[in-house]
Amino acid sequence: MAAIHRLPELLINQIAAGEVVERPASVLKEVLENALDAGARAIDVQLEEGGVRRIRVADDGRGIVRDELALALERHATSKIASLDDLERVGTMGFRGEALAAIAAVARTTLTSRAEGDAHAWQVEGANREPAPAALNRGTVIDIADLYYNTPARRKFLKSEATEYAHCDEAFRRIALARPDVGMQLSHNGRAIRRLPAGEARARIAALMGDDFLAQAREIHAEGALCLTGFASLPACARNRRDAQYFFVNGRHVRDKLLSHAIAQAYADILHGSRFPAYALFLEIDPTGVDVNVHPAKTEVRFRDAHAVHQFIFHALNRALAESGAGRGETPTADFPATAAALPPHADTGANRYSLPIRHPPAAPGRAAMDSAQQAYFDFANRARAQGAAAANTDSAAAPQTNQPPANTDGSAPLGYALAQLHGVYILAQNARGLVLVDMHAAHERILYEKLKIVFDGTPSVQRLLIPAVFPASQVEMATAESCAEVLLRMGFEVSAAGPYELVVRSVPALLANAAIADLLHELLEELHEYPASEVTTLRRNELLATMACHGAVRAHRQLTTPEMNALLRDMEASERADQCNHGRPTWTQFSLAELDRFFLRGQ
Ligand SMILES: Nc1ncnc2c1ncn2[C@@H]1O[C@H](COP(=O)(O)OP(=O)(O)OP(=O)(O)O)[C@@H](O)[C@H]1O
Ligand SMILES: [Mg+2]
Repeated sequence: MAAIHRLPELLINQIAAGEVVERPASVLKEVLENALDAGARAIDVQLEEGGVRRIRVADDGRGIVRDELALALERHATSKIASLDDLERVGTMGFRGEALAAIAAVARTTLTSRAEGDAHAWQVEGANREPAPAALNRGTVIDIADLYYNTPARRKFLKSEATEYAHCDEAFRRIALARPDVGMQLSHNGRAIRRLPAGEARARIAALMGDDFLAQAREIHAEGALCLTGFASLPACARNRRDAQYFFVNGRHVRDKLLSHAIAQAYADILHGSRFPAYALFLEIDPTGVDVNVHPAKTEVRFRDAHAVHQFIFHALNRALAESGAGRGETPTADFPATAAALPPHADTGANRYSLPIRHPPAAPGRAAMDSAQQAYFDFANRARAQGAAAANTDSAAAPQTNQPPANTDGSAPLGYALAQLHGVYILAQNARGLVLVDMHAAHERILYEKLKIVFDGTPSVQRLLIPAVFPASQVEMATAESCAEVLLRMGFEVSAAGPYELVVRSVPALLANAAIADLLHELLEELHEYPASEVTTLRRNELLATMACHGAVRAHRQLTTPEMNALLRDMEASERADQCNHGRPTWTQFSLAELDRFFLRGQ
């Protein structure tokens, strides 16, 4: 082994670079952040070959004076902090004075800048740190060529041009989302890819996340000790992947377990399974309340009062998502553009000619790309369209079973009054705007679930069964029923052994008096078996309640009387989150008279 010796400066920087500049996208992120810290109003990015060959970023910020140019490329040299105190209240994106040194150690780097008031610009480049006069109107241009040209081992870890470019684009998008006030453009291999003028957050989000997202999202605005703004998708528009989730803390994009958890909890009630919401959320917090110095790439933060932050985000989102469209007298799908042309072609019904302008989620590029909730919605839309077309073309379309017209048709109730039940699945109702269609099982399930939650927060009201229900049970079910007897009792079920392989139920929650008790208990016991009783957290409890709600909800093909249907409509209006069932499907939709008129070409 050799004697201990100091490493050369370049090698130190190259080692340090490993943490800071992992790939072209991390280089791009660092230089974009520098431009923002310099107060740039416009930033131009040019990439070549996925950023590996070249990353050139020009800004119109305050620039760097001649005598500090070389220093900017040195390690631990920064204009952004001077003391520990400063570090504890960092308001800039950068603070370590590491990025440019790391970049210059692993790529051919040229820095050109013209500080305000200087007669011309100055330039330094990697090898020659003596500034030379240069031409530049204002601001700073950094040109980074041949990433890892001198560290071939690292270069080997780079992926294809397309992959590296995709990462660069993502880095660009994150910064662009956070700073709509700054004009930004991006080109790749000489082709202009993104051109984002400075403007409102809404326009920037639409440009980067799509009009579809914005049309289907709830706007969030919660202010208190903290401030949370942005947009979050409604459950019916959730996606199969986590690819559209952006969270910013004081303008910095972060990935944070605590934040993800708070968001997941806000959606837990309305989004089941492997579906993910899309969101762009911006948290503003006093810089002293958050530590940004915890991760080499500055992508993680630590909150001083993590619990308060968690609660704030959870409540802000939960409230916004719980607001019922019915309560506000709007349809949950009211924001969907009514362009019938976006509907998938429906070849053989002749319905294309009519193109009923029903509301629907904007078309995804192809059916394969649609997620299942959208698919269900499209199927629903097509069915409605086909039925409408059939009714328009022939007289033989099945007429719904009609009841007495409602006594009160002044439209005072947002969801109106029941007219009929269609094929035992849908309720047709008339409100002031026109026709309301309700999926009765989905709607009832949601209402029951919300009621169960309220009831179980207090003492559940219990219905004693006149004739106790006895049913066969497996050995595992017997054991679970015994070990979870207390939890079951708290939920309103009095269950005990009636024989070696038999359970007896003597009471059930009053809300579920009409459910098929044996089926419900089989399922509950299975869920309880998977998770020991001690782990019945709020989340787990809600899952159990959801199972109960699903069993308790009216089944398809049960005939409802008009008063029953009206009671369901009133319950929906009063219930939180009534717009979606527990699985995120829509529970109702509206067809306005104007839409129906357009469909039948009335008044044209
Ligand atoms: N585009 C720019 N315009 C003006 N000044 C810049 C620009 N880029 C870098 N600088 C100056 O160079 C210094 C060093 O930049 P560098 O990115 O290496 O460190 P930093 O931003 O201070 O901290 P960090 O390592 O966390 O990014 C900055 O502190 C800043 O003064
Ligand atoms: Mg920096």
